[in-house]
Amino acid sequence: MYRNTTCGELRISDVNKTVTLAGWVQRIRKMGGMTFIDLRDRYGITQLAFNQEVNKDVFDKANSLGREYVLQVTGIVAERYSKNANMPTGDIEINVTELNVLNEAVTPPFTIEEDTDGGDDIRMKYRYLDLRRECVRRNLELRHKMAFEVRRYLDEQGFLEVETPVLVNSTPEGARDFVVPSRMNPGQFYALPQSPQILKQLLMVAGFDRYFQIVKCFRDEDLRADRQPEFTQIDCEMSFVEQEDILNMFEGMSRHLFKVIKGIDLPKLPRMTWADAMKYYGSDKPDTRFEMRFVELMDILKGYGFSVFDNAAYIGGICAKGAAVYTRKQIDALTDFVKKPQIGAKGMVYARVEADGSVKSSVDKFYTQEVLQKMKEAMQAEAGDLILILSGDDAMKTRKQLCELRLEMGNQLGLRDKNKYSCLWVIDFPMYEWSDEEQRLMAMHHPFTSPKPEDIPLLDTDPASVRANAYDMVINGVEVGGGSIRIHDAKLQQKVFEILGFTPEQAQRKFGFLMNAFKYGAPPHGGLAYGLDRFVSLFAGLDSIRDCIAFPKNNQGRDVMLGAPGVIDQEQLDELQLNIRERVE
Ligand code: AMO
Repeated sequence: MYRNTTCGELRISDVNKTVTLAGWVQRIRKMGGMTFIDLRDRYGITQLAFNQEVNKDVFDKANSLGREYVLQVTGIVAERYSKNANMPTGDIEINVTELNVLNEAVTPPFTIEEDTDGGDDIRMKYRYLDLRRECVRRNLELRHKMAFEVRRYLDEQGFLEVETPVLVNSTPEGARDFVVPSRMNPGQFYALPQSPQILKQLLMVAGFDRYFQIVKCFRDEDLRADRQPEFTQIDCEMSFVEQEDILNMFEGMSRHLFKVIKGIDLPKLPRMTWADAMKYYGSDKPDTRFEMRFVELMDILKGYGFSVFDNAAYIGGICAKGAAVYTRKQIDALTDFVKKPQIGAKGMVYARVEADGSVKSSVDKFYTQEVLQKMKEAMQAEAGDLILILSGDDAMKTRKQLCELRLEMGNQLGLRDKNKYSCLWVIDFPMYEWSDEEQRLMAMHHPFTSPKPEDIPLLDTDPASVRANAYDMVINGVEVGGGSIRIHDAKLQQKVFEILGFTPEQAQRKFGFLMNAFKYGAPPHGGLAYGLDRFVSLFAGLDSIRDCIAFPKNNQGRDVMLGAPGVIDQEQLDELQLNIRERVE
């Protein structure tokens, strides 16, 4: 037996026990005739004490060790002279009688501490060392616990976990596919699933009724803090359900997770239509931890000779409570912020509400105090508030810019507390969105999403205005999950494909097997998928989902530890009958 206790277990009540521990050397402190070593394993840290006078051999051995050596020690638990209240084992230490070096270690390239000196790149390269850090390990422990509780909840609700294949065909989630060449079928490729969407629908046709899977999905898209090329979904589907059934079931799952993991009683989730989310927050994933809703000011501010507003298709403002104290310099920085190319506003107008209630704005020469007071009222602004206004010739674009400004003000005013959670459903998404790039309507969710029954007639006359039975769960401005009620009627599915620009032949070629399956009796069904990585990150208060993934990819989609992606041998290429245009060595 290598050990009979762990480094996180021993307490004052264990004093005088003889114990054997194993772990890594976190830190060595040499203090004359005494040497102290912090021994670390997954469960915690225990202090080892070596006294020259008591046991010179073991003392000398301890002094020859280095960081990250792997040790086995036996000794007697003793009460510490100077206790450490910040450590669970801080009341005790081990007076070591036997020390066995299980393995030596070269000096690690960065310190394995909470505040490590290692930058991102080096920690990614030596991820197995980074994973030794408690803060990183804790994220993975949380991830395990959440996945476990998801399984427990869904199992209790009668869901079956069914695995679906990874080598499949193109799936319709709208990103690029990762493809895998087939040796046995030269010139042909599998695609890795962007989600198991079609397969879970086929499981419904097969009568499985309640399916889930914690499953890897693959999308070749530009990476961001909340996106990885391979990520994990909690993927779910149910038969004989309406939207309300799905929302209730998964609100229940979220409530369970909040309760057991965070100890939070989640209130009933508010629901916001997509149209309202865009109108009041300029985003389909509004951060509702704080208000600062948009107020449209077209009626109030147009027609006074200020050409920027007079020519605008949209004028909207936000009221930042208590921010009238902002200096000119701070306001200029906000103007620079909205003018950044990623945001793209042309400028920003501001107005301060003074202590006496009067309004002082950057466009005072165009507006009387009377008009400014009207604006103040519309904005529900009070003395000490700062009003920020954006305008533009494209309402949707301007709202998105105002959304960025709102979030920035939320950050600056400390309104986006990571320990506070605000969850909601965004519902009634449009079926389609116009793509400038493709010059056609695209499915906003995916092509299997059902229109709202009352909007079906509009498919013929005004498809852009059709609303879908689709919903997203949003927490703190992050889309954690999304889904829809599906089309289960082959004819309606055909029509939706047509509007998306597929000819019947193309639709048949791409999705023929699904349409065919629908001919054999498909139940009404629907579902959703959560992004597990995003859910865990929210619970852990992380800025990037990378930090809750054991072996993540960097922003170039590379695993720098494994050296993936990498080149393959000519022999392998030949087997696959592939030619590379230009070989990179
Ligand atoms: P959707 O594409 O909305 O829906 O994805 C569901 C959830 O998966 C997460 N997610 C991601 N997480 C990390 N990195 C990514 N690149 C990434 N892409 C998506 C998000 C998102 O809400 N088949 C449908 C679901 C359904 O209709 O049932 C689907 O995949 O949290």
